[in-house]
Amino acid sequence: MKPLIFDNIDEPGLNTLAVYERRGGYEMLRKALAMPREAVLQEISDSGLRGRGGAGFPMGMKAGFLPKGDMPKYLTCNADESEPGTFKDRELMQKSPHMLIEGIAIACYAAAITQAFIYIRGEYRLQGDILEAAIAEAYAAGYLGDGILDSGQPLSLVLHRGAGAYICGEETGLLDSLEGKRGNPRLKPPFPAIQGLYDGPTLINNVETLATVPHVIRLGGKQYAEIGVERSSGTKLVSVSGDVQRPGNYEIELGIPSREIIFGLAGGPQPGREVKLWFPGGSSSPVLTRDDLDLPYDFDSMAKAGTMLGSGAIIVVDDTHTVLEVMSKVVKFYAHESCGKCVPCREGTNWTHKMVHRIESGEATPMDLDLLASVQTQIIGNCLCVLGDAMAMPVGSMVAKFRPELEAEVEAARERAGTPSLASAGAGVPVH
Ligand SMILES: Cc1cc2nc3c(=O)[nH]c(=O)nc-3n(C[C@H](O)[C@H](O)[C@H](O)COP(=O)(O)O)c2cc1C
Repeated sequence: MKPLIFDNIDEPGLNTLAVYERRGGYEMLRKALAMPREAVLQEISDSGLRGRGGAGFPMGMKAGFLPKGDMPKYLTCNADESEPGTFKDRELMQKSPHMLIEGIAIACYAAAITQAFIYIRGEYRLQGDILEAAIAEAYAAGYLGDGILDSGQPLSLVLHRGAGAYICGEETGLLDSLEGKRGNPRLKPPFPAIQGLYDGPTLINNVETLATVPHVIRLGGKQYAEIGVERSSGTKLVSVSGDVQRPGNYEIELGIPSREIIFGLAGGPQPGREVKLWFPGGSSSPVLTRDDLDLPYDFDSMAKAGTMLGSGAIIVVDDTHTVLEVMSKVVKFYAHESCGKCVPCREGTNWTHKMVHRIESGEATPMDLDLLASVQTQIIGNCLCVLGDAMAMPVGSMVAKFRPELEAEVEAARERAGTPSLASAGAGVPVH
């Protein structure tokens, strides 16, 4: 497959306007501005492009929710990229910042937006600097500013750096942070498309989603939709990490077998080792096992398998690791990052953290695994945003799929700690 987003990505100087223009950069903005804005929006809708940030919501539909009329509307590009295992937006922004700016400008034109922001995670200093330089070049060349390309369409674009909080990647936490408040999620509805930044209608999209827009305009929405599979059109950047021989970012056509990504592109685990489990869409996705390696990698196939494609971050864990080790890392992250605004997430993530610690320190019984699983079911669907679910879903899946191994871990930890054997402690009685 010929890459779209990553085509020429390693060309030296592609981050500069001169090289980007030589590669045909900003021609699609020119083409879009010559079309009625409704037609541009229609192309995006026809492409079937689904959000690349996690939820997979169709971009055209989301942009279509913005009310018509003359009120101030905003676009916010989500460049927070904090989901563990995800590092595709970083490479994209670092190597081809103008592709993102062009995508933002086209999307703003389509949705009649004149003020845009890029919210970038604070740790991405280099990428932030590169973007700032690219934005300055785009202003100087007339791709941003009072009347872009003499079209009369004004567009201002501001880069805003976050301070390093996972919750600020959640779209409404991001908006609060951008407004200068503590980044906490808001109750939804109202959704940002109706009431977002400064209470105005706001289109929020991920970096990769927006960087895809120039390619949609180049190919035409219908032709873009021919790539990939039904309801998962186009290409996707996947970040493959963990126990593989060639970790990195790859652009794939949606719907190819997952095995082709994990083994074909990323080289699979080291010789002599086997895949034990893998996260298909970042650490918040329910885990899959080696039996699932032939699943097509697309939104619906992953959902049918009880998990999700998420941000496209595939984390591979081989048989040298215990499931408890993996669970412990996941839980620690989410307990640390919970913003504390809602009870099920604040208490649930911290309870889970304590329970996992109890298993590790040899104080638990196998029945505590039931309690662990039950706490997860009480978190899912009950939080203000899905940060709580983001821990509960993978943890629940690990208990369900690796119960015998976890029971053995409980026993082994008890032995290591010298905790009285379950027979003398009264097997089956949970210790609280
Ligand atoms: C806790 C949490 C963290 C998130 N972090 C990110 C992130 O870093 N980047 C991102 O694009 N989306 C993230 N999302 C998803 C956003 O809320 C939102 O769905 C996305 O930016 C929409 O863009 P898209 O439709 O183009 O995918 C996060 C969601 C949650 C609940």
